[in-house]
Amino acid sequence: MEVVIAQDAAACGAIAADAIARVLDRKPAAVLGLATGSSPLAIYDELAARCDAGLISFRHARGFTLDEYVGLPADHPERYRNVIDTVFVSRVDFAPGAVHGPDGLAADIPAACAAYEEAIGQAGGIDLQILGIGTDGHIGFNEPGSSLASRTRIKTLTRQTRIDNARFFGGDVDLVPTHCLTQGLGTIMAARHVVLVASGRGKAEAVHQLAEGPVSAMWPATILQHHPHATVLLDDGAASRLQLVDYYRETYLSKPEWQGI
Ligand code: F6R
Repeated sequence: MEVVIAQDAAACGAIAADAIARVLDRKPAAVLGLATGSSPLAIYDELAARCDAGLISFRHARGFTLDEYVGLPADHPERYRNVIDTVFVSRVDFAPGAVHGPDGLAADIPAACAAYEEAIGQAGGIDLQILGIGTDGHIGFNEPGSSLASRTRIKTLTRQTRIDNARFFGGDVDLVPTHCLTQGLGTIMAARHVVLVASGRGKAEAVHQLAEGPVSAMWPATILQHHPHATVLLDDGAASRLQLVDYYRETYLSKPEWQGI
């Protein structure tokens, strides 16, 4: 796992955008895994700016979102499918229908989850998966206790996650859905490159566990310690509890620029 401590969220966004640009250069029809929430917004802003400037194109690319709330109406602004359209997809040049999400309104949830796994497989798997991390260590919505080998399925959100996400629902935790569909930890682990971004001291304990704690279902993100190509992009706040912080800084500074993450 590579840990990179950047100046701020915008710097993290630029480093992640560089990695995505390299994937698209190599493979224009690349498959991207897309997270929602606050953490990846700087990445999407940077990618939208580069697309506007003609420096990058998603014309042949495809996308799969990480997760979706169960039961939010199709036109609800916080439905993740709508959020990702607003913050990213509508700002770049994906072909119509190129971005998919799990169906949180499906009548047959297990069948919808199996179909989602199938669609990712049919697309050739995810080349680069963008992730955030919850204060309780979740990635996707794989809450503590999730199977480390899980695939896309329904999960119950923890009270902590619903409190954390109440800011998107007018501060009312009772408006945050109780369930979601999420790519599993096994699904995320199958991505070829995983780029997790975190900012602020509120994420510091989860980030410490992710990079330096024992691998455990209690901190689901720790499974990424087993990933052959996982990159963690942090600001100072999110890095503030890391024991090896000086080592991570030194390692990144001494890396040749061309190598990227
Ligand atoms: C979102 C997702 C979640 C978030 C996490 C952090 O698609 O899967 O794991 O990445 O809850 O959320 P933010 O970035 O809003 O702090």
